[in-house]
Amino acid sequence: MRIGVIGTGYVGLVTGICFADKGFKTTCMDKDKEKIAKLNKGITPFFEPGLDIILKRNLEKNIEFTTDIEKLVKQSDIIFLCLPTPPDNDGKADVKALIEVANQIANVDDDRYKIIAIKSTTPVGTCDVIKKIISEKRSNFDIVSNPEFLREGSAIEDFFNPDRIVVGCSTKKAENVMIDLYKNFPSPILVMDNRSAEMVKYAANAFLAMKVSFINEIANLCEVYGADIKKIKEGIGTDKRIGSHFLEAGIGWGGSCFPKDVKALIKMGDEKNVEMKIAKAVYDVNERQKKLIVEKMKNRFDNLKGKNIAIWGLSFKPNTDDMRSAPSIDVINELIKHGCTITAYDPIAMENAKKIFSNVNFAKNMYQASENSDALIILTEWDDFKKINWSKMKMNQKIIFDGRNILNPEEARQNGFEYYGIGVK
Ligand SMILES: NC(=O)c1ccc[n+]([C@@H]2O[C@H](COP(=O)([O-])OP(=O)(O)OC[C@H]3O[C@@H](n4cnc5c(N)ncnc54)[C@H](O)[C@@H]3O)[C@@H](O)[C@H]2O)c1
Repeated sequence: MRIGVIGTGYVGLVTGICFADKGFKTTCMDKDKEKIAKLNKGITPFFEPGLDIILKRNLEKNIEFTTDIEKLVKQSDIIFLCLPTPPDNDGKADVKALIEVANQIANVDDDRYKIIAIKSTTPVGTCDVIKKIISEKRSNFDIVSNPEFLREGSAIEDFFNPDRIVVGCSTKKAENVMIDLYKNFPSPILVMDNRSAEMVKYAANAFLAMKVSFINEIANLCEVYGADIKKIKEGIGTDKRIGSHFLEAGIGWGGSCFPKDVKALIKMGDEKNVEMKIAKAVYDVNERQKKLIVEKMKNRFDNLKGKNIAIWGLSFKPNTDDMRSAPSIDVINELIKHGCTITAYDPIAMENAKKIFSNVNFAKNMYQASENSDALIILTEWDDFKKINWSKMKMNQKIIFDGRNILNPEEARQNGFEYYGIGVK
């Protein structure tokens, strides 16, 4: 069974490289020539822990990279579509990359049976749209929805050991091929229809975003009532019906998936006159949460104009260089609007951040960023920041706003720092 992957971004590249590592002959295609040239030299175009090592051991053995879609289609039995589905101006998921590629696949002169498996997160009904486009030119194929649940930063572990594998298909033949493909994975395979599989992905992401928005709202209440959100997390997270994951209070969720997927779910409801009240609240609570840290700073300083602010952490979460919809963007832009000077440090994401911010200073390390600052804000929970060496902190005013609750408030205060977390005393 030969595998093809179209789109070598975070999902496609991990999928291609990891299937190759499982021993499948794999071809990856992208329209981005630079990316493909880098990959052919064994260079990964983004940071994902361990991915470069697996790439190197499979290059020239099990995996090849190309910009030639015709070649990929002809030599693959299963073709994974790992294409972007960004929000359009209305917040609806834009599937034009999938439509473009479906047309290209349809036009390849080759009538061997194939499975087109969609890993992109797509609005319910997209499989039907893609099927219609391809079936105008060819018949010997099936469309499968195989949504991806990997998390950036732990994508390899997630690929090899997913909690479950969702396979949405409409024929027994496609079901059998997909079960065969995944037979050596240690995970349950949930077979369902295309539309349900597409919906599972949106429901999962909206539910996870809801947990975070919920705990953030409770954290805000903890602050005014003098309770401690870490104790609440423990108190509710030990209830098996609730579970302890995704209950970390902070400055809000971001990234390339939650914001766009919650929005797309709301839009899917709008299109059929089903108001997605919870999803809307989940989104709104998060928008408010991103602004609260600056409100807290305004309360502390009265006037933020002219303040030197140090930022630790830029990526939307640790162990990735992905800056897409990172809360740091909202927070930094708001501080700049108030007349602050920003000096930022992130262990991995600074190169990507430089493409976003033209008016931010970037420091060589976390301590240099905090030098002479009037306050430090922690926006990403990188491990390095948890191991803070207090004696290296040469701040102008020793004030910390910990947007991820990673420092010990007592320890900070013992070291002479004013400490503000999220929902903690
Ligand atoms: N990033 C994640 O953590 C994650 C997790 C689960 C699901 N998803 C979903 O997977 C999909 C892909 O996400 P991503 O983060 O990998 O996106 P990405 O932007 O990192 O990668 C998309 C890739 O597709 C390529 N591409 C775009 N149009 C193309 C075309 N016409 N032909 C060939 N290549 C083309 C781009 O050059 C890019 O390399 C999205 O639907 C996303 O919602 C993402």
